[in-house]
Amino acid sequence: MFDKQSSDLSIIDPEIFGIIQKERTRQEDGLELIASENYASPAVMQAQGSILTNKYAEGLPNKRYYGGCEFVDQGEILAIERVTKLFNAKFSNVQPHSGSQANMGAYFAMLEVGDSILGMSLAEGGHLTHGSPVNFSGKLFKFSSYGLNPQTERLDYDMIRDQAKALRPKLIVAGASAYAREINFKIFRDIADEIGALFMVDMAHIAGLVAAGVHNSPIPYAHVTTSTTHKTLRGPRGGIILTNEEDLFKKLNSNIFPGIQGGPLEHVIAAKAVAFKEALEPSFVTYQKQVIANSKALAVALINNGIELVTGGTDNHLVLVKTDSVGLSGKDAEKALEHAGITCNKNMIPQDKRSPFITSGVRLGTPAITTRGLKEEHMKLLADWIKDALVNHTNEEALKKIKSSVLELCRTFPVYK
Ligand SMILES: Cc1ncc(COP(=O)(O)O)c(C=O)c1O
Repeated sequence: MFDKQSSDLSIIDPEIFGIIQKERTRQEDGLELIASENYASPAVMQAQGSILTNKYAEGLPNKRYYGGCEFVDQGEILAIERVTKLFNAKFSNVQPHSGSQANMGAYFAMLEVGDSILGMSLAEGGHLTHGSPVNFSGKLFKFSSYGLNPQTERLDYDMIRDQAKALRPKLIVAGASAYAREINFKIFRDIADEIGALFMVDMAHIAGLVAAGVHNSPIPYAHVTTSTTHKTLRGPRGGIILTNEEDLFKKLNSNIFPGIQGGPLEHVIAAKAVAFKEALEPSFVTYQKQVIANSKALAVALINNGIELVTGGTDNHLVLVKTDSVGLSGKDAEKALEHAGITCNKNMIPQDKRSPFITSGVRLGTPAITTRGLKEEHMKLLADWIKDALVNHTNEEALKKIKSSVLELCRTFPVYK
């Protein structure tokens, strides 16, 4: 049995405890601009770190392969009720362990191995699970990809339509990991209908914006919508699938379990339920509006500092910076910013001549810094620090100076009080 002494992580495992403490300090003391990250609330983490982790519950609520599921059933039912309300969808499976699992379950529910899919190119903003040859998606399905219009650097729906008509895939996938503009889901659905294809949206990045009504929703148009729960949605690390189609829903359920997963993570599902409750609050809409306001303010301030952006701006939570416009690779820019206390990731830009390990850009997102309370006026400061860090990327003293200003701002806006 576990007494107080044997329940204290700092005593039981000081090494892991120390690592968590150091990571906590890193998260508090730096500006987190990775567009796919956020800070989950203490309530979300409390549910995720709870005794629900002990329970096996293969199956669905009220249809389990194990006894003793009456309480985890209640948790999972709440998660389903809340997420379907949040996104105005008829059906949801909240069991996918991650966004990748949600996509795998969705593909298996709609297609046979070897079927053809048209998705967004990884090099121009798509995700690994949208057909990369090193991912299960590219290994098991016949993927083709659409890119961006080289002039506008935006999705070009006429080009996509032409490609779809020529390739006649069984499924079209929309959704991106690095695209700063609003995606028009209605046009995508029209294109899919024109060729008799199914249409899936992976809204992982923008789910929070969609939930708050500040980005158009894919739910009325997509046969299946998948998402992560930990990016703009600000929940625990995990995935979800939504659909309005009952026959597809049954297939989605059986393709998640027993198709590709075993027992669901009921502690994570409870944490998802908490996050969905938080996202149903009016304050979540205020938060998402601020995420976009910050992103737009950051874009303007960067441009005013002579830094070019892909598409010249943003409609959502991220901006794609062309670091080669200030003579730097994405890799060097990422490193310089890290030394200045600003975390981001290198990212390919359209028509990038450099490899994915070097790149010519970085992706910056505002979900995490907005959660900690930063507003438009701080974006000007941030853009100045970014410019300074890029210009002085080999000057350790200059980078240290920026880092201490970053620290001062972070201390004024703690994440977890
Ligand atoms: C668009 C998109 N889909 C799916 C995923 C995969 O999510 P996970 O890392 O939870 O598997 C990501 C993650 O970055 C993503 O950006």
